[in-house]
Amino acid sequence: MAAQLLDGKGIAKQIRDEIKIDVAEFVEKSGVTPCLAAVLVGDDPASQVYVRNKERACEVAGITSQLHRLSADTSETDLLALIEQLNGDPAVHGILVQLPLPSHITETKILDAVHPLKDVDSFHAENVGLVVQGRPRFLPCTPHGVVQILHRCGIEISGKHAVVVGRSEIVGKPLANMLLQRGSNLGPSAANATVTVCHSRTANLPEITRQADILIAAIGQAKFITADMIKPGATVIDVGINRTDDGLVGDVDFDAALEVAGAITPVPGGVGPLTIAMLLWNTLAAARMQAT
Ligand code: GUN
Repeated sequence: MAAQLLDGKGIAKQIRDEIKIDVAEFVEKSGVTPCLAAVLVGDDPASQVYVRNKERACEVAGITSQLHRLSADTSETDLLALIEQLNGDPAVHGILVQLPLPSHITETKILDAVHPLKDVDSFHAENVGLVVQGRPRFLPCTPHGVVQILHRCGIEISGKHAVVVGRSEIVGKPLANMLLQRGSNLGPSAANATVTVCHSRTANLPEITRQADILIAAIGQAKFITADMIKPGATVIDVGINRTDDGLVGDVDFDAALEVAGAITPVPGGVGPLTIAMLLWNTLAAARMQAT
């Protein structure tokens, strides 16, 4: 029997509609319009598309957005100066520095320069620490999106064995941490997993992934997870977005996995749309924090 499709696109729309209502209410009460400043360095085509989509999503939600475009040869000093300016601008509530940055810029130095109360990506060391300690200020957008999909599709996380394949700072590490906490913003059923994190050097990977009740693929390699790596009936969440000659492809061999999994997110239309929705969520949260 084919797996149930988890409709990330529909869930993202639902969340964006909810945020739009919350933004209108916040503006009405506070007189403040939330504002997101995005910083794009260089001309990576994928980043251009992401930033454009973020701008459009802000507009629909009633959030003001600014786009600061800098050339690929911008110095670290000039980028830090822009971030300082945005940190000090009371009209800007959220700051997003689109990654990846050009190789002559040290990413952690830039991310740690963003004011922690404006860090809507939750990449600042202080905010990462708060997530790890189970008292998040901002939840990182893509991991939060994954948890929202599971929760809104009625898939219990508590007590399940979640296997995260990939240990990136943006997805794998923070998501593993969130899944193992005692609680979440969506209650204890959306946390309390037994979590295994696998990566490129894991031995016997298929043996481990086959133990997953919830298998999360975030390794950045097209069709890396094959059908034999999935336990029959498991929930499979595909975070991958790989550009190939066949178009956009996830980290899971989708057609084969469909026959084994119990539920699965497609690519595109799965986790991807949630990332922007949760960014809007954090921008409103940032505006709220700064208004009080
Ligand atoms: N590049 C890829 N994903 C992300 C993200 O979630 N935030 C930022 N700022 N850059 C990214």
